[in-house]
Amino acid sequence: MTAVYGDGDASFQAAGGQAGIQRLVDRFYDYMDSLPEAAAIRAMHPKDLALTRDKLYCFLCGWLGGEKLFAPKYGPIIIPRAHEHLDIGESERDAWLLCMEKALAEQPYAEDFKAYLMRELFVPAERCRILSQRRIQAEQAEQ
Ligand code: HEM
Repeated sequence: MTAVYGDGDASFQAAGGQAGIQRLVDRFYDYMDSLPEAAAIRAMHPKDLALTRDKLYCFLCGWLGGEKLFAPKYGPIIIPRAHEHLDIGESERDAWLLCMEKALAEQPYAEDFKAYLMRELFVPAERCRILSQRRIQAEQAEQ
């Protein structure tokens, strides 16, 4: 029987384990570094992306059902809260997802897994946008 993505480590395996996720994340930040559509979100990141690459790699390994590498190395994380201070609207959210879509397209993953992952990643990306917009509105209300 074929494993269902999201069950146990099925997604982690479908993404090629740690090596596969490393390749995905590397291509993701390469796109963020080069796509004109991503220039605004690239500018939110540090010049040197080495630490950012490692953080997303560690996070995704655990998020996809593999070893939870993020918390022992960087501490606990709640994705929307970690992005609350950033100004994320629809175009920033979509730019992030575009980098991921392009990076995913290059991976030797099953096509249905790529589509599944894009749907799943939309959820935290949208939560980042909502929390960011709430923070911006609250700041405007205070003025
Ligand atoms: C919605 C659009 C998003 C934008 C514009 C964005 C942008 C950023 C920026 C600017 C940082 C700080 C980088 C640094 O200082 O090193 C960051 C950190 C991070 N992002 Fe995102 N991000 C987005 C969505 C996501 C999503 C959906 C995930 C996970 C599925 C994610 C995972 C992470 C992780 C794990 C970190 C490291 C947090 C930390 O420093 O502790 N991001 N992101």
